Amino acid sequence: MKITIIGSGNVGTYCASFLAQKDIVNKIILIDVKKNISKGKSLDISQMIPLTGSNTKIYGYTDDYLKSKNSEIIVVTCGMPRKKGMSRDDLVDINSKIISNVVKEAINLSPNAKFIIVSNPLDIMTYIGYIKSNISSNKIIGMAGILDTARYRFFLSKKIGISPIDIQSLLIGGHGDTMVPLYRYTSISGIPIKEFISEVENEEIINKTKKAGEELVNYLGTSAWFAPSVSIVNMIESILKDSKRIFSCSSFLNGEYGINGIFLGVPVILGKNGVDKILELKLNSNEMKLFHKSAINVKNIIKKLSI
Ligand code: 2OP
Repeated sequence: MKITIIGSGNVGTYCASFLAQKDIVNKIILIDVKKNISKGKSLDISQMIPLTGSNTKIYGYTDDYLKSKNSEIIVVTCGMPRKKGMSRDDLVDINSKIISNVVKEAINLSPNAKFIIVSNPLDIMTYIGYIKSNISSNKIIGMAGILDTARYRFFLSKKIGISPIDIQSLLIGGHGDTMVPLYRYTSISGIPIKEFISEVENEEIINKTKKAGEELVNYLGTSAWFAPSVSIVNMIESILKDSKRIFSCSSFLNGEYGINGIFLGVPVILGKNGVDKILELKLNSNEMKLFHKSAINVKNIIKKLSI
């Protein structure tokens, strides 16, 4: 079982190291354009493995896509990360060219691979990956909703004073200011959230969640990597083990929620074929309005693309 991670920056390498520790794949290939960076990071992770206990082998290469041949899953983390003062959408021009090229190279060598796109702006980059690879839409998935939901669970656990592990929730829509909270679908160990906090109090937590990525960019000078990487590994694991876990992922909508032809965060069942099924929730009119606002934002950016 071989996984390729394109981009040996913070997200790509932490993802490789966390995945290696899980001991669920034989081989991880790290690729980056920056000379020797993948080699160095893969060696470092390989030298950690005797201590953590795993049989995974990690190899790093400079811009050599041949080494990704016949990967089961390809994770695309490359491109420019956000800097202070930038929105995710500010990255669209530079990252669309990078993602186009990378995906075209990778799909030729691994025609059966599933793609997990992580580069920002996420919903747009996943769309570009889909158009350029020409693979079936269930095999290309954007990582964002699972991360946004983890952040929300963290903030909510702090507010209520309970363990984040016991919070079940879903955030859908775009990865950014237009993410859609689903208060009605949130519970704590099966107890509806309204027993703990009001919708107004929840709104404050949602606003914090929307700004969570930006808050981290302000502290770190670049975008986050620990929570994003673990989110990717959760998705990889569900695909490889065919666990059929339900996560919010950026997925291609073909009429679901009344939307066509774009990628947006929705609850999906992840299994060996990628997206096994998109779950279509019965949103109320306000939730649907917010979801469609998110879709309009994505569509407006796509209209301006020059790829
Ligand atoms: C975030 O930190 C990487 O977009 C990502 O929200």
